Amino acid sequence: MNTFVSFLALTCVANAAVLPRDSLKIVIGNDDGWATANIRTFYNTLKGAGYNPLISAPASNKSGSSGIEFPPIPLITAGEFNTIPAGAPATGADPKDKNIYYVNSFPATAMKYGIEEFAPKVFGGKPDFAVTGVNVGDNLGLKTQFSGTVGAAAKAISYGIPAIAFSGVGGTQHVYTEADPVADVYAQVATKLVNAVIQSGAPYLPAGVGLNVNIPDAKDCPNASDYKFVLSRINTDINPLTDDVNQCSTNHLPTESAVIDAGGCRVPVSVFKGTTKLDVDKDTQKQVRDRLAGLLTCL
Ligand SMILES: *[C@@H]1O[C@H](CO)[C@@H](O)[C@H](O)[C@H]1NC(C)=O
Ligand SMILES: *[C@@H]1O[C@H](CO)[C@@H](O)[C@H](O)[C@H]1NC(C)=O
Repeated sequence: MNTFVSFLALTCVANAAVLPRDSLKIVIGNDDGWATANIRTFYNTLKGAGYNPLISAPASNKSGSSGIEFPPIPLITAGEFNTIPAGAPATGADPKDKNIYYVNSFPATAMKYGIEEFAPKVFGGKPDFAVTGVNVGDNLGLKTQFSGTVGAAAKAISYGIPAIAFSGVGGTQHVYTEADPVADVYAQVATKLVNAVIQSGAPYLPAGVGLNVNIPDAKDCPNASDYKFVLSRINTDINPLTDDVNQCSTNHLPTESAVIDAGGCRVPVSVFKGTTKLDVDKDTQKQVRDRLAGLLTCL
């Protein structure tokens, strides 16, 4: 065996674990806009982990726009951080990367375009999976109702595509060309959860549901390997007779805020219904719990 062949053989062994991901097509959306550090870092991290990602996100900051949709229009003023000139078409690709697209509209519309227009072009078909974020600022509890990050994930779910909405308690919205250690930590933590969900096998999540994930402030937890994932609820359990899945010796999951407030780099992971963006029944929670059993910890 010559040196080159043995190098190839070694590379194949080293990459064996990531090979199945190569064909996994992921559409990434957000509401902070296509040029923020968080979304670009997440894209690069997913790519580095062996996935095949595509960004389809608003041309400017559209925080808090829930599931609003509107046909995209040409840009009247320059796009986010001057990354798109005024007068540019309603949708377009990054001249340096044909897997990165802006849509001059809302987060849910950008997701729709990602699935219907760009995925067929880039992937030759539908995406296997969708992620949104990592949003700057938390989407804890009933904020999910107003969040464009969750709205875009819910849009993907409406196409039958399993989706995860990621938000970070800390961080800032700034241009991706500036280094950002917070964005790096968030991308690694989010990718860890994506890995676990993907490794649980197709269809990855039960039909019609997504995950809402809030990552604590990376200032308090600068090392991505310190984060732990805890199954949570979006809404306060208003009916004490309503059981959640039995997890950590109780039938009542903690709220997302309770998990964040507990500290210790804990990441609340809630299962939501795409149509309502609220909690699912305990049997559906159980299906997700069983998929992620190896990753989840207790408070
Ligand atoms: C993005 O939009 C939200 C909601 O309008 C606003 O609170 C936030 O300050 C904006 N971000 C920037 C960087 O302008
Ligand atoms: C992060 O934590 C891991 C596991 O505890 C440790 O091995 C690693 O050295 C830490 N990295 C940094 C940069 O502190």
